[in-house]
Amino acid sequence: MAGLVMKALILCGGKGTRLRPLTHTTAKHLLPVANKPILFYILEHIRAADITHIGIVISTETGNQIKEAVGDGSKWGAQVSYITQLEPLGLAHAVKEAQGFLSDSRFLMLLGDNLIEGGVTEFVGQFNTYAPEALILLKEVLDPEAFGIAELNEKGKVSHVVEKPKEPKSNLALAGIYLFTPEIHKAIAQIKPSWRGELEITDAIQKLIEMGKQVSSHIPKGWWIDTGTKDDLLKANRVMLDNFLKRDITGSVDSQSQVMGRVEIRQGTEVAASTIQGPVSIAEDCRIKNSFVGPFTSIGVGALIEDTSVEHSIILANCRLRKIEHLADSVIGKNTEVLKREHNSRVINLVIGDDARIRL
Ligand code: G1P
Repeated sequence: MAGLVMKALILCGGKGTRLRPLTHTTAKHLLPVANKPILFYILEHIRAADITHIGIVISTETGNQIKEAVGDGSKWGAQVSYITQLEPLGLAHAVKEAQGFLSDSRFLMLLGDNLIEGGVTEFVGQFNTYAPEALILLKEVLDPEAFGIAELNEKGKVSHVVEKPKEPKSNLALAGIYLFTPEIHKAIAQIKPSWRGELEITDAIQKLIEMGKQVSSHIPKGWWIDTGTKDDLLKANRVMLDNFLKRDITGSVDSQSQVMGRVEIRQGTEVAASTIQGPVSIAEDCRIKNSFVGPFTSIGVGALIEDTSVEHSIILANCRLRKIEHLADSVIGKNTEVLKREHNSRVINLVIGDDARIRL
């Protein structure tokens, strides 16, 4: 009966090079948007689709962080197993490595840094109803050369898929969410590494098509965000705050402060002589003094913000911002200090991690 149970496989092996320096110390899948790690949204989506057996493919570099954050999955009412991918040799390689966990089950596969509006319940429902060999989630993109791309025939069936084509024949990208029957393992066994040295899941799907198997597609109406860059991360933060945040103030706000709109101020946080204009999420144990925190900002645990104006930004745990006139469109890593010098000196002092980007 094992084959009837649907499992989920989350791929968290990637290095997140485009999100350096944040990803020097934090797995990209654990970077928070609206004060919750991206991976946790994905776990919630999987559970909402009634799947409890979840495998997470991890790398040797960041695997322990992910294990520590997710544990055995009981927080989500799930059973989580971990599969270590020793080298990032492609999405199909990750499936190969996970064969022991997947056995003969049908499975939902998701990239651990992609977010989708409304989750995957409708997608899974479609797979259960129409029972194709594979169902792929597609979204229109402006830069199809950067993705796996699908071509559909007149009947709307997937006729061809190709990874990062130089001359794309369609703008429908594979959005990193897939449903497969165990047939995919046979297809993976027949493909070779691509020009980038990876076993591409896109090539395995193309192989399924060539084997005469039915590959269907689903194009959801809502948004899809691949959180690969700083701007994508800010977008995800904006969308999550906009869509889901509720006004909830358990921290303390003094009488000289104003809190407007949908603002979350968690326990242990003190707001004094400041204006907070939602949507804004402020985590536990922060101090916000004589400052303005503007729309689409998330502030992590233990941050200290003084005489500063900040908006449309993600400030991670234990940061200190002081006397910063107007910080916007920024992502600031953990334990970082951004302070204006006391005297009006024009000298700038920096201690910056590798691969940082500063615009003054
Ligand atoms: C991967 C897949 C690609 C897909 C994309 C979605 O690309 O190979 O087919 O469209 O994820 O984010 P990569 O992130 O490896 O460039």
